[in-house]
Amino acid sequence: MNPPRPIAVLGGTGPEGFGLALRWTQAGETVIIGSRDPKRAQDAAGKIKQRVGTNAKISGSENTAACAEADLIVLTIPFEGHAALLKQLKPALRPGSIVIDATVPLAASVGGRATRTLGLWQGSAAQETAELLPREISVVAAFQNVGAELLNADGPIDCDVIVCSDDPAALQLTRALAAKIPGVRAIDGGKLENARILEQITALLISLNIRHKAHTGIRITGLPNA
Ligand SMILES: NC(=O)c1ccc[n+]([C@@H]2O[C@H](COP(=O)([O-])OP(=O)(O)OC[C@H]3O[C@@H](n4cnc5c(N)ncnc54)[C@H](OP(=O)(O)O)[C@@H]3O)[C@@H](O)[C@H]2O)c1
Repeated sequence: MNPPRPIAVLGGTGPEGFGLALRWTQAGETVIIGSRDPKRAQDAAGKIKQRVGTNAKISGSENTAACAEADLIVLTIPFEGHAALLKQLKPALRPGSIVIDATVPLAASVGGRATRTLGLWQGSAAQETAELLPREISVVAAFQNVGAELLNADGPIDCDVIVCSDDPAALQLTRALAAKIPGVRAIDGGKLENARILEQITALLISLNIRHKAHTGIRITGLPNA
């Protein structure tokens, strides 16, 4: 059996991607930080290695090179760079790859407020990803509602991660990945079209964080344990 391929976290030099990369490296996964600048990616990888220890399986590369090394690609970039990066990545993606999109189309991307989202023709940033990539690539929406401050702190995270995709296998794989973050419960959130709601919840959480000087997350009640 081939060894498991790494997880590429594109935009992993920023707080959200760095936090996810940190958590998965701590869980023993092989992670590549992606950046527009390979040096920045390597520096971020070095910081994670310092935190996790010398056995940490973490490296850094330019975004397209990171993507070419992985079957699991996580997008953690601001919405203003979303479409351009996807077009750039297209030739490097292999059929059967999974793209997990955590991007939130905050109005801040066009000079507006971080407490509002932009209206997108496709419905959500994740649906835009599905539209821009070939059909053979599975797109998953997840991690929009987990704040970077929580990911980058030590200890478990008191938060649910709702995972949405039109590909049931990719959805389950992403749930398993989310569940590697201590404290996180990963919930099947149904079709990719529900990403538009996940993305809007982020704007609400940002608003609550400002109002209450807090680091909020969400928990869904009433679900069966399974
Ligand atoms: N921060 C949070 O708490 C949080 C929570 C949930 C979801 N999110 C979402 O996750 C994404 C990343 O959040 P973040 O706070 O980590 O963002 P960020 O710091 O603004 O950006 C992350 C990284 O993206 C790269 N980048 C910046 N502009 C780019 C562009 N135009 N094209 C391509 N790459 C670009 C930069 O890396 P290089 O310069 O190294 O290429 C940057 O370090 C956003 O869509 C955000 O809405 C964030």
